[in-house]
Amino acid sequence: MYIPEPLGFGIDKRRSESVLAMKRFHIVLAAIALLLVALNSSAEAKEKVIVDSDMVILYDDGVAIMMLANHPDVELLGVTIVSGNTWVAEGTAYALRQLEVMNRPDIPVALGVRYPLRAGRYETMEVERTMFGYRSSYIGCFRRVEPASYLDVYRTEFGGKPTLKPVDKHAVNFLIDTIKANPGEVTVIPIGPCTNLAIAIRMAPEIIGLVKRVVYMGGAFDTPGNTTPAAEFNWWFDPEAAKMCVRTPFPDQLVVGLDVCEKYRFNKKIFARITAVNTPIAEMFRKKYGPEFRKDPSYTRLVWDTVAAAVVIDPTLITEEKTRWVDVNSDYGLDYGRSLAYSKRGPAGTQKARILFTIDEERFWNLMVDMLTK
Ligand code: BDR
Ligand code: CA
Repeated sequence: MYIPEPLGFGIDKRRSESVLAMKRFHIVLAAIALLLVALNSSAEAKEKVIVDSDMVILYDDGVAIMMLANHPDVELLGVTIVSGNTWVAEGTAYALRQLEVMNRPDIPVALGVRYPLRAGRYETMEVERTMFGYRSSYIGCFRRVEPASYLDVYRTEFGGKPTLKPVDKHAVNFLIDTIKANPGEVTVIPIGPCTNLAIAIRMAPEIIGLVKRVVYMGGAFDTPGNTTPAAEFNWWFDPEAAKMCVRTPFPDQLVVGLDVCEKYRFNKKIFARITAVNTPIAEMFRKKYGPEFRKDPSYTRLVWDTVAAAVVIDPTLITEEKTRWVDVNSDYGLDYGRSLAYSKRGPAGTQKARILFTIDEERFWNLMVDMLTK
């Protein structure tokens, strides 16, 4: 028997269906909004960094930029080059080469200052070595004649011309402009001598409060120096610049010196993990370190700058740090370039910095391997 639907029932059903559809529509809208907020805040959460480096192939400076460039939470705004381990011309060629291999033409490279601040430092190096009793004969790029240009270095070492070019702006101006364009957001990571940053803060002191943080690879406090008995290489190469920087009231300063870096060494196990994949980076590692490990399986090496990169990516890696007033000795004598730390107030003009002593070693190597095998 046909029972007709009561008149009002059909209307109610249609009404409740349309209410349901509206609800669904609102839920979808809310989900899209949430997704957009999440995407946006993950973009905002990216740590913006500039690496200021005396660049080499792999080792530590090269691996440091690879780790930062490959990490999804980091935005590598640029690589500024300074003389130290390598001349600016060499460092520029090495930075361009590695960015080519990584296929990252979007990361700018800027040529920086070619000599340390102290007048005649390069010219009087031999006398200095005799006078100050150097621990080793290692004096970085001072050992070699300065190449005429990065193009010459590239041609000699890699053949042909790079496909990438440095930006048409000096590293010091690049630092100033980029910090100003991102107020309160940029972490500067000097993993070479501090000459570029020192000149930047002299030229534009207004950037001091605009920097988020400075993370130095430099200094040796409770550990002997690696270049003279007193001094670590980066701060020894340009003590005046390092002193100017650490005495600057940046909002936050972190010192990743030999005290922490000399505790961890790259070895065959780590090499095997990095070269277990088939990527251009793994190939570079195979070429550079394969022969070393074949010659001596117990071969190890320090990876200083990569520790600085790692703690920028993941500050929870830090397991021991001490806050001290930090300074750098610039008296031209046996202690030239020595790092100084004061637990009570330091001399006038010194600032507080966090000095690192230990990190979580296992997680550090895991992070490095992850970033190099992507
Ligand atoms: C530091 O000196 C440079 O040669 C290394 O790359 C590192 O930045 C270690 O003393
Ligand atoms: Ca370096």
